[in-house]
Amino acid sequence: MYKLIINPDSKKGYISPEIQGHFSEHLGRCIYNGIFVGKDSAIPNTDGMRDDVVNALREMKLPVLRWPGGCFADEYHWKDGIGPLDSRKKMINTNWGGVVEDNSFGTHEYMELCRQLGCKTYVNGNLGSGTVREMSEWVEYMTFDGVSPMADLRKANGREEPWTVDYFCVGNESWGCGGYMVPEYYASQYRQYQAFLKNYNSDKKIKKIAVGPNEKDYNWTRTVLSECFRDQGSWNDNHGLMDGFSLHYYTVPHDWAHKGSAVFFDEKEWYMTLSKTLVMEELIAKHSAIMDEFDPDCKIGLMVDEWGTWYDVEEGTNPGFLFQQNTMRDAVVAGINLNIFNKHCNRVKMANIAQLINVLQAVILTEGDKMVKTPTYYAFKMYSCHQDGTLIESSIDTDRIGKEPEYQVPNLSESVSMDKEGKLHITITNLSCSDAYEIEGNLLGHEVKNVKAEILSGEMNSHNTFDNPNAVKCEIFNAVKAEGDRLKFTIPASSLIAIEVETA
Ligand code: AHR
Repeated sequence: MYKLIINPDSKKGYISPEIQGHFSEHLGRCIYNGIFVGKDSAIPNTDGMRDDVVNALREMKLPVLRWPGGCFADEYHWKDGIGPLDSRKKMINTNWGGVVEDNSFGTHEYMELCRQLGCKTYVNGNLGSGTVREMSEWVEYMTFDGVSPMADLRKANGREEPWTVDYFCVGNESWGCGGYMVPEYYASQYRQYQAFLKNYNSDKKIKKIAVGPNEKDYNWTRTVLSECFRDQGSWNDNHGLMDGFSLHYYTVPHDWAHKGSAVFFDEKEWYMTLSKTLVMEELIAKHSAIMDEFDPDCKIGLMVDEWGTWYDVEEGTNPGFLFQQNTMRDAVVAGINLNIFNKHCNRVKMANIAQLINVLQAVILTEGDKMVKTPTYYAFKMYSCHQDGTLIESSIDTDRIGKEPEYQVPNLSESVSMDKEGKLHITITNLSCSDAYEIEGNLLGHEVKNVKAEILSGEMNSHNTFDNPNAVKCEIFNAVKAEGDRLKFTIPASSLIAIEVETA
């Protein structure tokens, strides 16, 4: 019996809905065919956006969408993607398969997509090959509500009202594909560029994000932050310089040369993958500790704006398109990471899984007019109960599992939140691919009045295909027994459970 202790009276912090955010890049079939098929497509769409995909994402409660990249962002010149379709420039997508990018999905289409999804906007600017003026004019084009060259251009292109840009990042992976910069250089570029991202609407300030580290590059974090804050007394003096600092970490089972298959893996690779995904905990803790030195009040969010599994591409698909299947292993990876983000909600204010559709750890796969929801989709849907909630103090007993000592992991992961109505939401993930565990929850002095739960469960390799789209899906779970301040249930191997508890 594993004890889960929940202290509903101990509130630990606010869980930003953006912790469950997503990322969409002009890469493979993420934007084109995945979400955007154009107005003339035979696939049912609204202004070019697939209705089936938009409906599924709305049901999942997608809170924020990062766009247009990734590496693509540092080659993207936004003016190529506005105006009449037939006048838009065609370019080569040099990062992703060398295919022609016809710019038919640009700023207006992205804003329309976010409107249909009801989500916040996160635009990634081009630092690597763009200019200060280009970046500054993009913000003016999107957000200025007056008479100016860019606002006038937007109106001439059919959009009278400005849009809201919730988040804006200056560059992407500037230590890599975004320009191979050293941290000192990036920091001074960031200081300069961010100064020209004007807030035209004081009620809707743009949250500015600086490019943070790759994985364990603690030197990047320390150097960029010290350069950015070198002449500032305290964070308050600095207000406006930076609202977020990104972190990228992918779960790659083997190594970058031979990552491993998305579907054909054994028990050893299961634990190898989960042990690598758990590195996220260490990365967040150590980068946060450095951030604490500069920003002890956690005003700056750590934005994990690229994370997820990265496997070898599916056989027969374009290697530049990064298309991979998605199994229960991915759902467990999602469950673990979303629990980690919750537990660090005071510092982690946004996270964006890579990527939304047909790329890496996608929540949706499409083929022609067909669509499947992946196990990761269901993990996000189940965890959406935490959005906008308050993190509650909780802990669970665990054992180390896995045969290979270097790939051992704890058998269980959990987090708990309280929503605005006072209901508790418990999410638990079982990391074992073979064993079920009995769990006893104790709500420390609070009697259970009502309980309901959902489960996502299956063999470790199980996944959804276009022929069998419902092999893995979340279901009602009636096996949680409540008595007084206790909950008892058994969590099956490789599964996720979300429990909603109303207390007396
Ligand atoms: O998500 C795929 C790529 O991974 C992104 O374009 C880049 O930022 C990262 O290296």
